[in-house]
Amino acid sequence: MPLDRVPTVLPVGLRPGLPACRHPDIPAPHIPAPHIPAIVPLAAGPHLTFRCMVMSYVRVLRLLLPAALLLLLLPVASAHADDDRVPPVRDRATRAACGSCHMAFQPGFLPARSWEAIMASLDNHFGARVALPEGEREAVTRYLVQNAGDRISGELASAFMARVHPRGTPRRLTENPEFIHEHRKTSWYEVGNSAIGSIVNCRACHRKAEKGRYDD
Ligand code: HEC
Ligand code: HEC
Repeated sequence: MPLDRVPTVLPVGLRPGLPACRHPDIPAPHIPAPHIPAIVPLAAGPHLTFRCMVMSYVRVLRLLLPAALLLLLLPVASAHADDDRVPPVRDRATRAACGSCHMAFQPGFLPARSWEAIMASLDNHFGARVALPEGEREAVTRYLVQNAGDRISGELASAFMARVHPRGTPRRLTENPEFIHEHRKTSWYEVGNSAIGSIVNCRACHRKAEKGRYDD
């Protein structure tokens, strides 16, 4: 405490030589000038009045309040950090139709027109044939289109969409420059010649791939 803030008078209950209570709202008794000590020791002793102690706590709490508020707000902040993921596939029909040969890829990785193109050519699906009743095909297409990367918000989806040519209709998310950049340290040759089999096998490397989390 700066010396100039040492009170010139001692509050009730304090004897000279003991710590002073520094709250101005405590009535100041009149002490004749010769008894005023030049310097009031700062070490807190057991002789502080109850009111003085309460005021000290209030002051400490007031200091801690911003920290406490920050702690309260942290969960909200980390919810925003979820921007680093794509929303998982929640639609049961899509999971069933598109999750048997490979993981059902999150629609956030491709624009809506890509999903339309993929769903319109299931007879020749990357060399495989995907058989799907018409009603189901429509329902799955609707879900994929509604949740496509250019229809949702989120950092990861936006990063992928930023690299899609305005007139392009990619059918592979693994061809996206953003994907290639993130996997620049991955040897696709080794992936192809190991138990992983294909870079398309996201789950082999990303434990939480189904949840849309790829940051591990
Ligand atoms: C019969 C098996 C099978 C089913 C069912 C299937 N796929 Fe595929 N899919 C494949 C194969 C094979 C590949 C190519 C894998 C590779 O390149 O290693 C592929 C690749 C893909 C890719 C490109 C992955 C990349 O490289 O970025 C997308 C997107 C895709 N499938 C979407 C779908 C959707 C949507 C459905 C559901 C309607 C679906 N698939 C159902 C077999 C299937
Ligand atoms: C052979 C292992 C492997 C496979 C298979 C794989 N990845 Fe990755 N992926 C990685 C590695 C390694 C990184 C870099 C991690 C890092 O830098 O923290 C990465 C990074 C990523 C990132 C960036 C994460 C971030 O938060 O920046 C995304 C998104 C991603 N992968 C998606 C996929 C998807 C989707 C698939 C499947 C289509 C896939 N990955 C398949 C190994 C793999």
